[in-house]
Amino acid sequence: MPSFVPNARPTNIATYSPIKYAGGKRQLLAQLLASRPPTWHRYFEPFAGGATLFFALGLSGAYLSDTSAELINVYQVIRDNIDILIADLGRHCNREDYYYTIRALDPETLSPVERASRFLFLNKTCWAGLLRVNRQGRFNVPFGHYEHPNIVNADGLRAAHRVLQTTEIAQADYQAVLPMAQPEDFVYCDPPYVALSGSARFTEYTAGGFDWADHVQLAAAVYTLARRGCYVMVSNADVPAVRVLYRGLWSQSVSARRSINSDATKRAGARELIITTYPVSGAERLR
Ligand SMILES: C[S@@+](CC[C@H](N)C(=O)[O-])C[C@H]1O[C@@H](n2cnc3c(N)ncnc32)[C@H](O)[C@@H]1O
Repeated sequence: MPSFVPNARPTNIATYSPIKYAGGKRQLLAQLLASRPPTWHRYFEPFAGGATLFFALGLSGAYLSDTSAELINVYQVIRDNIDILIADLGRHCNREDYYYTIRALDPETLSPVERASRFLFLNKTCWAGLLRVNRQGRFNVPFGHYEHPNIVNADGLRAAHRVLQTTEIAQADYQAVLPMAQPEDFVYCDPPYVALSGSARFTEYTAGGFDWADHVQLAAAVYTLARRGCYVMVSNADVPAVRVLYRGLWSQSVSARRSINSDATKRAGARELIITTYPVSGAERLR
Protein backbone atom coordinates (compact mmCIF):
# COMPACT_ATOMS: atom_id res chain seq x y z
CA MET A 1 0.00 0.00 0.00
CA PRO A 2 1.49 3.40 -0.93
CA SER A 3 2.41 5.54 2.05
CA PHE A 4 2.26 8.83 0.17
CA VAL A 5 -0.81 10.59 -1.15
CA PRO A 6 -0.22 13.97 -2.77
CA ASN A 7 -2.19 17.01 -1.68
CA ALA A 8 -5.66 17.01 -3.15
CA ARG A 9 -6.30 19.77 -5.70
CA PRO A 10 -9.41 20.48 -7.75
CA THR A 11 -8.99 19.28 -11.35
CA ASN A 12 -11.97 21.29 -12.62
CA ILE A 13 -13.39 18.06 -13.99
CA ALA A 14 -15.92 17.42 -11.27
CA THR A 15 -18.08 14.65 -12.64
CA TYR A 16 -20.52 11.88 -11.75
CA SER A 17 -19.67 8.45 -10.47
CA PRO A 18 -19.44 5.94 -13.34
CA ILE A 19 -21.25 3.46 -11.10
CA LYS A 20 -25.00 3.37 -10.54
CA TYR A 21 -25.16 2.87 -6.80
CA ALA A 22 -28.23 2.14 -4.71
CA GLY A 23 -27.33 3.68 -1.35
CA GLY A 24 -24.99 6.14 -3.08
CA LYS A 25 -24.82 9.72 -2.01
CA ARG A 26 -26.35 11.58 -4.94
CA GLN A 27 -29.40 12.81 -2.98
CA LEU A 28 -27.19 14.09 -0.17
CA LEU A 29 -24.51 15.57 -2.35
CA ALA A 30 -25.41 19.25 -1.86
CA GLN A 31 -25.39 18.84 1.94
CA LEU A 32 -22.13 16.86 1.85
CA LEU A 33 -20.44 19.51 -0.29
CA ALA A 34 -21.69 22.24 2.06
CA SER A 35 -20.29 20.27 5.02
CA ARG A 36 -16.73 19.79 3.78
CA PRO A 37 -13.98 21.66 5.63
CA PRO A 38 -12.94 24.99 4.01
CA THR A 39 -9.46 23.68 3.16
CA TRP A 40 -7.56 20.43 3.59
CA HIS A 41 -4.38 18.68 2.50
CA ARG A 42 -5.17 15.18 1.27
CA TYR A 43 -8.52 13.45 0.70
CA PHE A 44 -9.37 9.89 1.75
CA GLU A 45 -12.56 7.97 0.99
CA PRO A 46 -12.09 4.59 2.72
CA PHE A 47 -15.65 3.29 2.03
CA ALA A 48 -15.57 4.36 -1.61
CA GLY A 49 -18.59 2.50 -3.04
CA GLY A 50 -19.74 4.69 -5.93
CA ALA A 51 -17.45 7.46 -4.57
CA THR A 52 -20.08 10.11 -5.34
CA LEU A 53 -18.42 12.81 -3.25
CA PHE A 54 -14.95 12.14 -4.65
CA PHE A 55 -16.15 12.52 -8.25
CA ALA A 56 -18.21 15.61 -7.40
CA LEU A 57 -15.17 17.22 -5.80
CA GLY A 58 -13.17 16.38 -8.93
CA LEU A 59 -9.94 16.13 -6.97
CA SER A 60 -6.58 15.08 -8.20
CA GLY A 61 -4.42 13.39 -5.60
CA ALA A 62 -6.75 11.39 -3.41
CA TYR A 63 -6.93 7.94 -1.85
CA LEU A 64 -9.94 5.75 -2.68
CA SER A 65 -10.34 2.38 -1.02
CA ASP A 66 -12.99 -0.24 -0.34
CA THR A 67 -13.03 -3.91 0.65
CA SER A 68 -14.87 -4.82 -2.58
CA ALA A 69 -12.47 -6.33 -5.10
CA GLU A 70 -15.03 -5.73 -7.87
CA LEU A 71 -15.34 -1.98 -7.23
CA ILE A 72 -11.62 -1.46 -6.84
CA ASN A 73 -10.88 -3.32 -10.06
CA VAL A 74 -13.41 -1.13 -11.92
CA TYR A 75 -11.75 2.08 -10.74
CA GLN A 76 -8.28 0.76 -11.55
CA VAL A 77 -9.33 -0.30 -15.05
CA ILE A 78 -11.08 3.05 -15.70
CA ARG A 79 -7.86 4.77 -14.63
CA ASP A 80 -5.39 2.53 -16.48
CA ASN A 81 -7.19 0.90 -19.44
CA ILE A 82 -10.00 3.17 -20.54
CA ASP A 83 -9.90 2.57 -24.33
CA ILE A 84 -9.94 -1.22 -24.05
CA LEU A 85 -12.69 -1.04 -21.44
CA ILE A 86 -14.93 1.15 -23.63
CA ALA A 87 -14.37 -1.20 -26.59
CA ASP A 88 -15.22 -4.23 -24.45
CA LEU A 89 -18.41 -2.61 -23.10
CA GLY A 90 -19.59 -2.22 -26.68
CA ARG A 91 -19.85 -6.04 -26.98
CA HIS A 92 -22.71 -6.31 -24.49
CA CYS A 93 -26.42 -6.35 -25.28
CA ASN A 94 -29.49 -5.68 -23.16
CA ARG A 95 -31.13 -9.12 -23.34
CA GLU A 96 -32.31 -11.14 -20.36
CA ASP A 97 -30.70 -14.46 -21.37
CA TYR A 98 -27.41 -12.66 -22.11
CA TYR A 99 -27.60 -10.88 -18.72
CA TYR A 100 -27.86 -14.19 -16.85
CA THR A 101 -25.02 -15.71 -18.89
CA ILE A 102 -22.73 -12.81 -17.96
CA ARG A 103 -23.94 -12.83 -14.36
CA ALA A 104 -23.03 -16.54 -14.06
CA LEU A 105 -19.38 -15.89 -14.98
CA ASP A 106 -16.92 -16.12 -12.11
CA PRO A 107 -15.25 -12.66 -12.05
CA GLU A 108 -12.04 -14.16 -10.68
CA THR A 109 -11.53 -16.14 -13.90
CA LEU A 110 -11.67 -12.96 -16.05
CA SER A 111 -8.97 -10.47 -17.00
CA PRO A 112 -9.18 -7.11 -15.13
CA VAL A 113 -10.76 -5.43 -18.20
CA GLU A 114 -13.30 -8.24 -18.75
CA ARG A 115 -14.09 -8.18 -15.05
CA ALA A 116 -14.69 -4.41 -15.03
CA SER A 117 -16.74 -4.67 -18.22
CA ARG A 118 -18.90 -7.43 -16.69
CA PHE A 119 -19.39 -5.37 -13.53
CA LEU A 120 -20.41 -2.18 -15.38
CA PHE A 121 -22.72 -4.11 -17.73
CA LEU A 122 -24.51 -5.81 -14.80
CA ASN A 123 -24.56 -2.52 -12.89
CA LYS A 124 -26.35 -0.69 -15.73
CA THR A 125 -28.80 -3.49 -16.59
CA CYS A 126 -29.65 -5.07 -13.21
CA TRP A 127 -32.64 -4.14 -11.08
CA ALA A 128 -32.24 -0.69 -9.44
CA GLY A 129 -28.43 -0.64 -9.65
CA LEU A 130 -28.24 -2.91 -6.61
CA LEU A 131 -24.82 -4.34 -5.70
CA ARG A 132 -26.15 -7.28 -3.68
CA VAL A 133 -24.22 -10.53 -3.32
CA ASN A 134 -25.21 -13.85 -1.75
CA ARG A 135 -23.41 -15.59 1.11
CA GLN A 136 -20.89 -17.01 -1.34
CA GLY A 137 -20.12 -13.48 -2.52
CA ARG A 138 -21.78 -14.04 -5.94
CA PHE A 139 -23.76 -11.15 -7.49
CA ASN A 140 -27.45 -12.16 -7.32
CA VAL A 141 -29.53 -9.17 -8.51
CA PRO A 142 -32.17 -9.95 -11.20
CA PHE A 143 -32.36 -8.43 -14.69
CA GLY A 144 -33.69 -4.84 -14.62
CA HIS A 145 -35.80 -4.83 -17.83
CA TYR A 146 -34.73 -1.28 -18.73
CA GLU A 147 -35.50 -0.18 -22.29
CA HIS A 148 -32.37 1.86 -22.94
CA PRO A 149 -29.72 1.34 -20.26
CA ASN A 150 -26.62 3.46 -20.79
CA ILE A 151 -24.17 0.53 -20.97
CA VAL A 152 -21.38 2.41 -22.77
CA ASN A 153 -21.29 5.87 -21.23
CA ALA A 154 -18.02 6.78 -22.98
CA ASP A 155 -18.05 10.48 -22.03
CA GLY A 156 -18.76 9.75 -18.39
CA LEU A 157 -16.11 7.03 -18.26
CA ARG A 158 -13.51 9.31 -19.86
CA ALA A 159 -14.26 12.09 -17.37
CA ALA A 160 -13.87 9.58 -14.51
CA HIS A 161 -10.63 8.37 -16.16
CA ARG A 162 -9.21 11.92 -16.09
CA VAL A 163 -10.13 12.48 -12.44
CA LEU A 164 -8.64 9.13 -11.43
CA GLN A 165 -5.24 9.75 -13.07
CA THR A 166 -3.53 10.81 -9.83
CA THR A 167 -5.68 8.78 -7.45
CA GLU A 168 -4.35 5.94 -5.32
CA ILE A 169 -6.89 3.10 -5.47
CA ALA A 170 -6.62 0.19 -3.07
CA GLN A 171 -8.63 -2.80 -1.96
CA ALA A 172 -8.36 -2.39 1.80
CA ASP A 173 -10.24 -2.46 5.05
CA TYR A 174 -10.79 1.07 6.38
CA GLN A 175 -8.76 0.16 9.47
CA ALA A 176 -5.65 -0.27 7.33
CA VAL A 177 -6.16 3.11 5.65
CA LEU A 178 -7.08 5.51 8.46
CA PRO A 179 -3.64 5.40 10.12
CA MET A 180 -2.25 7.05 6.95
CA ALA A 181 -4.28 10.23 7.51
CA GLN A 182 -2.27 13.17 8.86
CA PRO A 183 -3.30 16.48 10.49
CA GLU A 184 -5.51 18.57 8.17
CA ASP A 185 -6.27 15.66 5.85
CA PHE A 186 -9.98 15.25 5.02
CA VAL A 187 -11.47 11.76 5.52
CA TYR A 188 -15.02 10.99 4.42
CA CYS A 189 -16.43 7.77 5.91
CA ASP A 190 -19.65 6.40 4.42
CA PRO A 191 -19.89 2.89 5.88
CA PRO A 192 -22.80 0.50 5.25
CA TYR A 193 -25.47 2.03 7.48
CA VAL A 194 -26.80 0.75 10.75
CA ALA A 195 -29.88 -1.24 9.60
CA LEU A 196 -33.03 0.89 9.78
CA SER A 197 -35.54 -1.94 9.55
CA GLY A 198 -35.99 -5.35 7.98
CA SER A 199 -36.92 -3.74 4.65
CA ALA A 200 -33.93 -1.41 4.35
CA ARG A 201 -30.94 -3.70 4.55
CA PHE A 202 -28.14 -1.31 3.66
CA THR A 203 -25.72 -3.64 5.49
CA GLU A 204 -25.71 -6.17 2.66
CA TYR A 205 -23.13 -4.54 0.39
CA THR A 206 -20.56 -7.23 0.99
CA ALA A 207 -20.87 -10.87 1.94
CA GLY A 208 -19.28 -10.01 5.29
CA GLY A 209 -21.57 -7.08 6.16
CA PHE A 210 -20.75 -4.39 8.71
CA ASP A 211 -22.23 -5.07 12.13
CA TRP A 212 -22.72 -2.99 15.26
CA ALA A 213 -19.25 -3.89 16.63
CA ASP A 214 -17.79 -2.52 13.38
CA HIS A 215 -19.67 0.76 13.89
CA VAL A 216 -18.33 1.04 17.45
CA GLN A 217 -14.80 0.43 16.16
CA LEU A 218 -15.21 2.99 13.37
CA ALA A 219 -16.45 5.63 15.83
CA ALA A 220 -13.37 5.02 18.00
CA ALA A 221 -11.15 5.46 14.93
CA VAL A 222 -12.96 8.72 14.05
CA TYR A 223 -12.25 10.17 17.52
CA THR A 224 -8.59 9.14 17.12
CA LEU A 225 -8.38 11.00 13.79
CA ALA A 226 -10.09 14.06 15.32
CA ARG A 227 -7.48 14.15 18.11
CA ARG A 228 -4.78 13.93 15.44
CA GLY A 229 -6.17 17.06 13.79
CA CYS A 230 -7.79 15.40 10.74
CA TYR A 231 -11.13 16.64 9.40
CA VAL A 232 -13.52 13.69 9.40
CA MET A 233 -17.04 13.54 7.98
CA VAL A 234 -19.22 10.45 8.56
CA SER A 235 -22.65 9.54 7.14
CA ASN A 236 -25.01 7.17 8.86
CA ALA A 237 -28.68 6.58 9.64
CA ASP A 238 -30.23 9.07 12.05
CA VAL A 239 -31.05 6.64 14.83
CA PRO A 240 -30.50 7.18 18.59
CA ALA A 241 -27.69 4.61 18.80
CA VAL A 242 -25.64 6.46 16.17
CA ARG A 243 -26.19 9.79 17.95
CA VAL A 244 -24.81 8.23 21.15
CA LEU A 245 -21.86 6.72 19.27
CA TYR A 246 -20.69 10.12 17.99
CA ARG A 247 -21.50 12.17 21.13
CA GLY A 248 -19.51 15.42 21.29
CA LEU A 249 -19.15 15.78 17.50
CA TRP A 250 -21.21 18.06 15.21
CA SER A 251 -24.20 16.72 13.30
CA GLN A 252 -26.91 17.63 10.85
CA SER A 253 -30.03 15.56 10.33
CA VAL A 254 -30.96 15.50 6.66
CA SER A 255 -33.65 13.66 4.72
CA ALA A 256 -32.71 11.28 1.93
CA ARG A 257 -35.19 9.62 -0.37
CA ARG A 258 -34.25 6.00 -0.97
CA SER A 259 -35.71 4.29 -4.01
CA ILE A 260 -34.21 0.90 -3.21
CA ASN A 261 -37.44 -0.84 -2.14
CA SER A 262 -39.63 -2.45 -4.81
CA ASP A 263 -42.68 -1.45 -2.75
CA ALA A 264 -43.22 2.27 -3.50
CA THR A 265 -45.04 2.80 -0.20
CA LYS A 266 -41.86 1.85 1.65
CA ARG A 267 -39.64 4.34 -0.20
CA ALA A 268 -39.84 6.68 2.76
CA GLY A 269 -37.56 9.68 3.12
CA ALA A 270 -35.52 8.25 6.00
CA ARG A 271 -33.38 10.71 7.92
CA GLU A 272 -29.62 10.50 7.84
CA LEU A 273 -26.90 12.13 9.90
CA ILE A 274 -23.91 14.01 8.55
CA ILE A 275 -21.42 13.95 11.41
CA THR A 276 -18.30 16.10 11.40
CA THR A 277 -15.34 16.46 13.74
CA TYR A 278 -15.29 20.21 12.92
CA PRO A 279 -18.06 22.83 13.19
CA VAL A 280 -20.30 23.36 10.17
CA SER A 281 -22.87 26.13 9.78
CA GLY A 282 -26.26 24.84 10.99
CA ALA A 283 -24.81 21.77 12.70
CA GLU A 284 -25.39 21.02 16.37
CA ARG A 285 -23.31 19.16 18.92
CA LEU A 286 -24.44 15.64 19.68
CA ARG A 287 -25.07 15.38 23.46
C1 LIG B 1 -22.56 3.09 1.81
S1 LIG B 1 -21.44 2.32 0.68
C2 LIG B 1 -20.56 3.75 0.17
C3 LIG B 1 -21.37 4.57 -0.80
C4 LIG B 1 -20.58 5.70 -1.44
N1 LIG B 1 -20.28 6.76 -0.52
C5 LIG B 1 -21.30 6.27 -2.65
O1 LIG B 1 -21.44 7.48 -2.77
O2 LIG B 1 -21.67 5.50 -3.53
C6 LIG B 1 -20.36 1.44 1.73
C7 LIG B 1 -19.12 0.79 1.11
O3 LIG B 1 -18.29 0.31 2.16
C8 LIG B 1 -17.62 -0.86 1.74
N2 LIG B 1 -17.15 -1.58 2.95
C9 LIG B 1 -17.84 -2.43 3.77
N3 LIG B 1 -17.08 -2.81 4.81
C10 LIG B 1 -15.88 -2.16 4.67
C11 LIG B 1 -14.68 -2.12 5.45
N4 LIG B 1 -14.55 -2.83 6.56
N5 LIG B 1 -13.65 -1.35 5.01
C12 LIG B 1 -13.77 -0.64 3.85
N6 LIG B 1 -14.88 -0.64 3.06
C13 LIG B 1 -15.93 -1.39 3.48
C14 LIG B 1 -18.64 -1.60 0.90
O4 LIG B 1 -18.01 -2.48 -0.02
C15 LIG B 1 -19.38 -0.42 0.22
O5 LIG B 1 -18.85 -0.19 -1.05
